[in-house]
Amino acid sequence: SSFVFFLLLSFEPSQASNADHGLSREAFPEGFVFGTAASAYQVEGMALKGGRGPSIWDAFVRIPNTIAGNATADVTVDEYHHYKCRSNIKTASNHKSDLITFCFFFSSIYDQMIMQEDVDIMKDFNFDAYRFSISWSRIFPSITPYANLYHYDLPLALNEEYLGWLSPKIVDAFADYADFCFERFGDRVKNWFTFNEPRCIAALGYDDGLHAPGRCTGCQAGGNSTIEPYIAAHNLILSHAATMKRYREKYQKEQKGMIGILLDFVWYEPYTYSVQDKAAAQRARDFHIGWFLHPLTYGHYPKSMQVIVKERLPKFTKEQAKMVKGSYDYVGVNQYTSYYMKDAGVVDTKPVSYQADWHVDFKYDRDGVPIGPLANSYWLYIVPWGLYKAVTYVKETYRNPVIIVAENGMDQPGNATLPEVLQDTTRVNYFKSYITNLKRAMDDGATVIGYFAWSLLDNFEWRLGYTARFGIVYVDFKNEKRFPKNSAYWFKKILQRKSN
Ligand code: NOJ
Repeated sequence: SSFVFFLLLSFEPSQASNADHGLSREAFPEGFVFGTAASAYQVEGMALKGGRGPSIWDAFVRIPNTIAGNATADVTVDEYHHYKCRSNIKTASNHKSDLITFCFFFSSIYDQMIMQEDVDIMKDFNFDAYRFSISWSRIFPSITPYANLYHYDLPLALNEEYLGWLSPKIVDAFADYADFCFERFGDRVKNWFTFNEPRCIAALGYDDGLHAPGRCTGCQAGGNSTIEPYIAAHNLILSHAATMKRYREKYQKEQKGMIGILLDFVWYEPYTYSVQDKAAAQRARDFHIGWFLHPLTYGHYPKSMQVIVKERLPKFTKEQAKMVKGSYDYVGVNQYTSYYMKDAGVVDTKPVSYQADWHVDFKYDRDGVPIGPLANSYWLYIVPWGLYKAVTYVKETYRNPVIIVAENGMDQPGNATLPEVLQDTTRVNYFKSYITNLKRAMDDGATVIGYFAWSLLDNFEWRLGYTARFGIVYVDFKNEKRFPKNSAYWFKKILQRKSN
């Protein structure tokens, strides 16, 4: 370990002191929040322990050959035992900082947590906030909590009882669970999200089967129909809106918090600027972010979806539309990558899947020139200007909402080893150029109030298991030791307060 310590010391200043495009905390408005993001199943560990019941992910990862290396997140990076606060706890009696409050907040969720190191890392590296998720199946600072109520881990029992998101019964169940969290934690949590990436929940869980519960259009024994992703999305939207209604009616006035939803958004650039390709790119945006943000802003699905999906697209009743419309205080945008969209021609054939309903061809290069360099994950092309366009599009299309960029980052291979992995120059450049583009979108009028890097720690990357390292801190999965990468030092430098 002294060798590693030596390496850390020798890497820290060299990379971190590179030109940083003039980025600094001061370049952003007063009160702008910088944080890191993560989710319960991906980082906590202690699956099925400490009173937690199984979620659909606990079952899904156990299906052979579903996850790279047949990995599970039973232990993952063991944040349950490493979320830290050691140094602050020692001084707790005479030094009541927000950080301590945060630690106690965490320990009140997960009673017997032993305090160790991750929140201290966030603080040492000058972050203001931590976006995490509360594990539905477990319930039962200067670091400000941004709590997300659902990050893919549906209690398994609800899937078995009524197929989870496919049943309208889930709407009240989710709102009740959320209500419990507001009542219990709302005095300390002032920043809430209902769902992380509902599009992924619906499309990956019910269309291509890559995520739990692994239902797949056209390939399910017993006949999964192409309507399932749309039903799941519809119930997610209603659950979100019912939860918003509860919060607004019962808690918001007293607790004075804010609440929204987290939407993934790939930027879709027309492959050529032909009328057809432009329309294809627009369709892709409608089917992607518009599927959710359109009803949440306007009370109905995008026109293009109504025309193509026809009667397979569920409808909101008048009353539901009223509840759905305007149901967010802010919108979280998770943005990593961009693709070109080419028209595949909208022909009226028998529907095959949600994805086929887009009627597009995905393109990753133009005449052999890639849209950007590929990170480790096959889907992650590095396209900094895509963040500018995505944020600007949300501003222009959805009435200039308050936006939080709630995830942004890139990965390295799972088997990358120390010390090479600590020299993450590509990641430093990724953050520099994406954040510069975010700043540009803000200068052009987007109302962005925060930015969260995905993620603090390397962790369990869903079906890619441990083959994708997204952390700005390396984790040795064998002993759970944490090693900050150069990107962590870069953030530390740009997030330093002048008064530090
Ligand atoms: C999307 C998801 O919210 C998160 O769980 C995932 O690990 C990252 N983006 C990276 O793919």
